Amino acid sequence: MSTPKKLYIKTYGCQMNVYDSERMVEALGGSGYVETSTPEDADMILLNTCHIREKAAEKVYSELGRMRVLKEAKPDLKIGVAGCVAQAEGAEIMRRQPLVDLVVGPQSYHRLPQLEATTRSGKRALDTDFPEDDKFETLRHRPKAARGPTAFLTVQEGCDKFCAFCVVPYTRGAEVSRPADRILEEARDLVDRGVREITLLGQNVNAYHGAGEGGDWSLARLIRALDGIDGLERIRFTTSHPNDMSDDLIAAHGDCAKLMPYLHLPVQSGSDRILKRMNRNHTADEYLRLIDRIRAARPDILLSSDFIVGFPEETEEDFTATLDLIRAVEFGQAYSFKYSTRPGTPAAERAQLPDDVMTDRLHRLQALLAQQQRRVQDSMVGRDVSVLFERAGRMPGQMVGKSEYLHAVHVEDATATLGQIARVRITASGTNSLAAVMA
Ligand code: 5AD
Ligand code: SF4
Repeated sequence: MSTPKKLYIKTYGCQMNVYDSERMVEALGGSGYVETSTPEDADMILLNTCHIREKAAEKVYSELGRMRVLKEAKPDLKIGVAGCVAQAEGAEIMRRQPLVDLVVGPQSYHRLPQLEATTRSGKRALDTDFPEDDKFETLRHRPKAARGPTAFLTVQEGCDKFCAFCVVPYTRGAEVSRPADRILEEARDLVDRGVREITLLGQNVNAYHGAGEGGDWSLARLIRALDGIDGLERIRFTTSHPNDMSDDLIAAHGDCAKLMPYLHLPVQSGSDRILKRMNRNHTADEYLRLIDRIRAARPDILLSSDFIVGFPEETEEDFTATLDLIRAVEFGQAYSFKYSTRPGTPAAERAQLPDDVMTDRLHRLQALLAQQQRRVQDSMVGRDVSVLFERAGRMPGQMVGKSEYLHAVHVEDATATLGQIARVRITASGTNSLAAVMA
């Protein structure tokens, strides 16, 4: 048997890219590749990229610059760019970086074996199509790698919302939901391979409406079906849009035992004027009332969100409204960004705010969010939570996992093993994690 070729894949951006990278490894497995964690060993390097903000996209070019030495040392090395930067700037990448052999978009990576063969014949390959054949179907029966107790599972992809700042509708394409039976099949297979927790992924995951028995299934219906899979202990989903939080899905948070009490629900801004300019199609008050309904169904739910500061025309008053919304909700987790102009999006045409104004607002917003996160994390001390053990800790006998609320928890006297879920008592709240002992 010939020695396997080695594939090094570096993943940027969101969790869906993590999922896609796993599928790319499976796709190239058929061409004789095994994954390596050292780029120096690789016969092929793939960068699975993110285009969401300018900084994320820039990383690709600097990383490619660093690859030059590797390619000089090993002329046979193939270098590929995948993901959303590939989709948005594929031809430009080829022009700017002669050392790139291959460009593949997020909807065509099931064709990697053919593209790789093209590069082996000395040609460059570019594929940023939105093909009719579906990557999920093509890769459905590829041999799968061993894995840990948690997994991502893409159920929906793309977005039809067209928020004025966002590239996703252009890079990932229109909203498409996978059929329910395929998702359930993939979930069962993951559970058979030791997975205990599945995070359902979609850019607009709560808009899921995949074909299923008796017609289109909602995300709530899918979650209820997953809830019935023996051996699957935890279900999460991300990312949701406030306008797609159906009554059914809210109710599932109250009565579906395996659905974890954590919800990432980006709001972006607390100003109605800015929300309108962002094309978010809801007001701050509607968001707050939605939060009330979710908390009525599941009082202990931990809420997370995304914020953009310095969106074009954001005034100090608009920004204050965002701080007010944050104070009204009390988030346990949050991600916040300075607005970044993305070519091709409607907001890119509008006047930008000075960078120092954006930086100042970001600092103030993050200070408030950090206080809230601290309060929520500290409030866990003395409570019993359940932890899914994901890895051994640094200290002997210590194990690390996540609570239902997605807090990292270090358990000092862990008797449970990797992949098990145990009840623990939180004893202290540290910088980025909680400490606990077996309950
Ligand atoms: N600038 C800054 N942040 C952005 N996001 C999306 N597009 C932009 C942009 N142009 C943020 C949003 C989104 C998260 C994934 O990234 O907050 O929810
Ligand atoms: Fe990045 Fe968005 Fe693409 Fe995910 S979908 S890789 S966050 S641009």
